[in-house]
Amino acid sequence: MVETRANTCIVGLTWGDEAKGKIVDILAADHDVVVRYNGGNNAGHTVAFEGETYKLHLVPSGLFHPGVTCVVGGGLVVDPKALLDEITRHEGKAKDLRRRVLVSNRAHTIWPWHKTLEALAEKHEGKGKIGTTLRGIGPAYADKANRVTAIRMGEFLRPEHLRPKVERIVRSKNEIITRVFGDEPLDAAAVWNEYAEYGRALAPMIADTTAWLTRAVAQGKRVLFEGAQGTLLDIDHGTYPYVTSSNASAAGVWTGSGVSARHIGQILGVVKAYTTRVGEGPFPTELTGPLGDQIREQGHEYGTTTGRPRRCGWLDTFAIRYAARINDLDGIVITLLDVLGRLPQLKICTGYLVDGKPLDEFTDDPVVLEKAKPQLEGLDPWSEDISGAKRFEDLPRAARAYVKRVEELVGAQVRIISVGPDREQTIFRS
Ligand code: IMP
Repeated sequence: MVETRANTCIVGLTWGDEAKGKIVDILAADHDVVVRYNGGNNAGHTVAFEGETYKLHLVPSGLFHPGVTCVVGGGLVVDPKALLDEITRHEGKAKDLRRRVLVSNRAHTIWPWHKTLEALAEKHEGKGKIGTTLRGIGPAYADKANRVTAIRMGEFLRPEHLRPKVERIVRSKNEIITRVFGDEPLDAAAVWNEYAEYGRALAPMIADTTAWLTRAVAQGKRVLFEGAQGTLLDIDHGTYPYVTSSNASAAGVWTGSGVSARHIGQILGVVKAYTTRVGEGPFPTELTGPLGDQIREQGHEYGTTTGRPRRCGWLDTFAIRYAARINDLDGIVITLLDVLGRLPQLKICTGYLVDGKPLDEFTDDPVVLEKAKPQLEGLDPWSEDISGAKRFEDLPRAARAYVKRVEELVGAQVRIISVGPDREQTIFRS
């Protein structure tokens, strides 16, 4: 096991889908609380044990450990129906789940108008679209910033105030839906009746989680912070505008959980052994030919949330070095190392060339990123099946050399290596 005495933050270093769910599930065994601090049900976290696979979108990935409290932090946008469905789906396996889930009264909520307007806007943009998950995430965060058309979870505790507010918001959203996009208006009464029901079911779980977490930390309980998506999708630090609408990097912990960053003992950044991306946006190390297809098939690279095929490419240590800086990393977790076995060649990106010149720093400019050519270094591939490896020394020499090269190029130690989806298929390094 890695050092988990301190509160730990698990964060994605690239464009999400780094298999963080598996790592959070494993480390949760050594924590009392797991807190999600950003995003919504755009996330897809997969946890596998005892021959079964579980897909999660909103509930923190600690749910399968009895006694672990799962906090849905204030930094999230919560689709109440999606949350209830997920709790219902997993409560057979995750004992006492309804008593272990706490939802922040400050978390914002996703309503039908968010999904409708997002679908209409993405369609309207055509080629200029972001390629979102269409879960209403962006419009809900936009309303959070807009304030007058936003609804927080705590408002479900005062339905007599919420009902007229929902009616008012539906009126104003219908203006946009019908007049701007020429689409069908929403029925405010039907929306209210459905969502009031969700609110009643979720009410016992809604709490002032910042106060609860502060007490938990003061009592010495160990807290694991779970990031969704990845640093390159962070609204402030990612490849804007092709990003999600929240702080997916460790920068989101303080705002998204209400717990001071002083209480985070270590930040571990997760990367796959290669890179993937879904949706639009620059991806300098993308492999569009048969090698990319081979990685997609070997890694089952299809979205957990939307089923979309993921774009695949070589590991990009130039981008990861940037993400390591943004997150002030203590260590790296490499997942899906087994997937790289059997590839006819193996490469790693060490930097970018733009108009023939090396770039000093990862850039904020999407036009420059689109032009960037990866500087690729060849490494020896391996053909052995490594999915049963228990210790670093069990890995073939070429796989160990690959891990060490990642450490050199990123400037951080690889602390955990995942060689398969199951909890057991994990190598810890001291
Ligand atoms: P949104 O979060 O649905 O607004 O989508 C914005 C961008 O983030 C799109 O490119 C999505 O494909 C991407 N995205 C959102 N959530 C995830 C995730 O959990 N994994 C990978 N990509 C994601």
